[in-house]
Amino acid sequence: MKGLILAGGFGTRLRPLTYTGAKQLIPIANKPIIFYGIETLIDAGIKEIGIVVGETGPEVRQMVGDGSRWNIKIDYIHQPSPLGLAHCIKISREFLGDEPFIMYLGDNLLKEGVRKFVDKFNRNSPDALILLTRVPNPQDFGVAQIDNNNKVIKLIEKPKEPPSNLALVGIYLFNKNIFLAVDNIKPSGRNELEITDAIQWLLDNNYNVESQEVEKWWKDTGKPEDIIDANLLVLEGLEPSNQGRLLDSLVNGKVVIEPDAIIENSTIRGPVIIGKKSHIIHSYIGPFTSIGNNVIIENSEVECSVIMDDARIKNIEKRIDRSIIGRGALISQTDHSPRTHRFILGDQSYAEIVR
Ligand code: G1P
Repeated sequence: MKGLILAGGFGTRLRPLTYTGAKQLIPIANKPIIFYGIETLIDAGIKEIGIVVGETGPEVRQMVGDGSRWNIKIDYIHQPSPLGLAHCIKISREFLGDEPFIMYLGDNLLKEGVRKFVDKFNRNSPDALILLTRVPNPQDFGVAQIDNNNKVIKLIEKPKEPPSNLALVGIYLFNKNIFLAVDNIKPSGRNELEITDAIQWLLDNNYNVESQEVEKWWKDTGKPEDIIDANLLVLEGLEPSNQGRLLDSLVNGKVVIEPDAIIENSTIRGPVIIGKKSHIIHSYIGPFTSIGNNVIIENSEVECSVIMDDARIKNIEKRIDRSIIGRGALISQTDHSPRTHRFILGDQSYAEIVR
């Protein structure tokens, strides 16, 4: 079975972070989101992966490479504009050939991995196997309606009035009949060839579509809150290790300190990961925080946040909470009159002062 990872799209709901980089490269626990997908597919025995990329293709290629670091083969398929998930399948026809494949949205994270779904697909040989999960906000996803025997009857993309709370997880297994489906559907209201419509076409034409509910957590990292939540979920499974230097500091719980990081007169309360060459001075780093490489945090408190490489946080009086700080960003507080707020924020940035 081949793997197809989708890493195109503009990531509009993650601006301004996605103005300067692909959303699939945003770090969760200091690892680009897309790496989790790649490693999940490898764990299920997949050795050939195609990645569909759009305008951020060059940086995805640069970060991911040709697969040799995992001992697998990775090819890239260019999608000139984001015309939908089903369109990605259309343009990947040559790469996929006639073999069954697993399609994985590059911004999705699934705790339990995909091995058992691949096994089920190989055992039952359906035309499609879809993964479902119950969510509180089904109107934001593709939604499945199932009958009493768990058979899928209908799929609708982002319905205003959802027929159930069963969302389609962004991981799908198909055989070659999906090519017929994608050739027979029309673009949706948002001018995309929807994968949901393609699977509905399979249902309407009596192809065999199986479904299975996932058991553990799933996260689609489409919005900033999702990044913070995904970071929290991944850090819960952290294996502690310390390769840095601790000077008069207190470390509790599961904490990873990477080589050449220095923690000075500080308290770190895990789960926390601190990247290479970062420097934490006179600070408190609270649970569910990921700190990238070369970060400086001085006289400040940070909790439940994602701080990317080269960022600096200095002398902030109040605790920084549930925040995402991009690469090389600087936040500081100086004490002189007049007391003001001064912001230089990129387009569509977000700043909130909670008093
Ligand atoms: C896409 C699919 C949707 C699915 C979701 C999962 O939505 O169209 O059916 O539930 O991924 O992540 P999008 O993220 O493109 O809005």
